[in-house]
Amino acid sequence: MNLRTILKKIKPIKYYFTGRIFYNDKRFLDVQDNVKIESEKRPFRSEIINFLLSLKNEKTTYLEIGVRNPSHNFDHIKADFKHSVDPGKEYKLNPVEFKMTSDEFFAKLDANEILTNEIKFDVIFIDGLHYAEQVDRDIQNSLKYIKNDGFIVLHDCNPPSEWHAIETYDYRVTPALNNWNGTTWKAFVKWRSNPEINSCCIDTDWGVGVLSKEQLIGDAVKPSNPFYEYLVFEKNKKEILNLISFEEFKRRLLKK
Ligand SMILES: C[S@@+](CC[C@H](N)C(=O)[O-])C[C@H]1O[C@@H](n2cnc3c(N)ncnc32)[C@H](O)[C@@H]1O
Repeated sequence: MNLRTILKKIKPIKYYFTGRIFYNDKRFLDVQDNVKIESEKRPFRSEIINFLLSLKNEKTTYLEIGVRNPSHNFDHIKADFKHSVDPGKEYKLNPVEFKMTSDEFFAKLDANEILTNEIKFDVIFIDGLHYAEQVDRDIQNSLKYIKNDGFIVLHDCNPPSEWHAIETYDYRVTPALNNWNGTTWKAFVKWRSNPEINSCCIDTDWGVGVLSKEQLIGDAVKPSNPFYEYLVFEKNKKEILNLISFEEFKRRLLKK
């Protein structure tokens, strides 16, 4: 047995060697570079949502699904009527109007038990449970309550690595460390291929996806990744997501 093997039997030394491999791995370092690039991108989601609301010449109505700490986004949104939904899983204070899951919220809205089932929103921001199946349901429900010229906005559509897009929320010993985008991207990509929906993803703040029934922000894409494999997605991200800058997005809407 050589000295290294003997030393590795001592726990702190074994941890040191394992940690050294983890932190110096090329893939780990590449992911850190990607995360740095992503974190420095601007604008943040709030500015994009406020831009969309500012396009309206009438009183605006906004819904946010998944709020956590409202000082991060909700409080910055400039709309005449604002509604918020969150079951309070991540922020104990949970100062929202509807303390429930998005499924419960839409079920009550459908049944006319809260607000009114005639309500139409200008912008719905989906940022609740980041699993494809849930996000897909949030999109389907939102489509019933979004104005024809309104926008459904989704956070976390552009995970910078496969570890940011893992299914296990609470396992953080990966190169993504504390950041998690979940599988939101799969639901967004599914709707990107619906020819009745216009869509694109603004390349900032972990991917701000936008869907609209009438606003011509981007054509649907032909489905090319039937098994929603992350590595296939990563290679063709620009086209699959219709990934564009905020400047380009504004040009499309203002037709400049
Ligand atoms: C990423 S945080 C939201 C961040 C916030 N929108 C922002 O821009 O800063 C996700 C939130 O979704 C909430 N959430 C979890 N499951 C949910 C569900 N089924 N329906 C609605 N919200 C949910 C969590 O409680 C958490 O507060």
